[in-house]
Amino acid sequence: MDNIKIKVNGVQHTVGSEVSSDVMLVDYLRNFLELRGTKYSCREGGCGACIVTASKTPGTPYVSVNSCLVAVTSCDGWDIRTIEGLGNKKDGYHKVQTTLAENHGSQCGYCSCGWVMAMQGVLETKKDLTMKEIENSFGSNLCRCTGYRPIIEAFKKFAKDAPKEERIMDLQSLYICNKNGNKCCSEKEDDWCMVEKNDTELESNKVKELVLKDGRKWFQAKRI
Ligand code: FES
Ligand code: FES
Repeated sequence: MDNIKIKVNGVQHTVGSEVSSDVMLVDYLRNFLELRGTKYSCREGGCGACIVTASKTPGTPYVSVNSCLVAVTSCDGWDIRTIEGLGNKKDGYHKVQTTLAENHGSQCGYCSCGWVMAMQGVLETKKDLTMKEIENSFGSNLCRCTGYRPIIEAFKKFAKDAPKEERIMDLQSLYICNKNGNKCCSEKEDDWCMVEKNDTELESNKVKELVLKDGRKWFQAKRI
């Protein structure tokens, strides 16, 4: 089992023999790595509290994963991002996190990390979302406080057809390059970093140059 390697929030880990084959990813994150932002409830894929995102092979988008459904021993080579890696108090919060909070989408907060990671997975895998598509993307996220409407209304601000005055246009906070794991490398280089194209921002002076990556169009955009 020593050859199972996973990356979590940009840090490489080897899953050693102390981890039995029935340890699920959620328990590995929480109990071995002490990343307890990832929650659990149903443990059967129905509540979404345990959602993280993962790029399963290099260069592929980070997709949502119910970490209660996958044994960590089957995650060899995965690049996993948890809520702590997406944004945190020390390094700053991600736009999906702040949008949820600022729009009253969190009450007790137990479900919030799962909603945020699910939304981030949606943003990373599908571009130019409509409000309807966003509303239909959360069939397996539950909120025990039943705050569904403010959660969905908050996330709909990321849609291309959101009212102009509400629409979120902050590219850098929406897309994270995976050039440097989960860490933003812009500080090491200069003021520019990689983000994926957002049609309405293409002409803006924030966009520096086009790069092709896995068939998708990428641009360098000025850090906002
Ligand atoms: Fe994983 Fe409920 S704990 S979906
Ligand atoms: Fe309490 Fe959703 S905010 S469970």
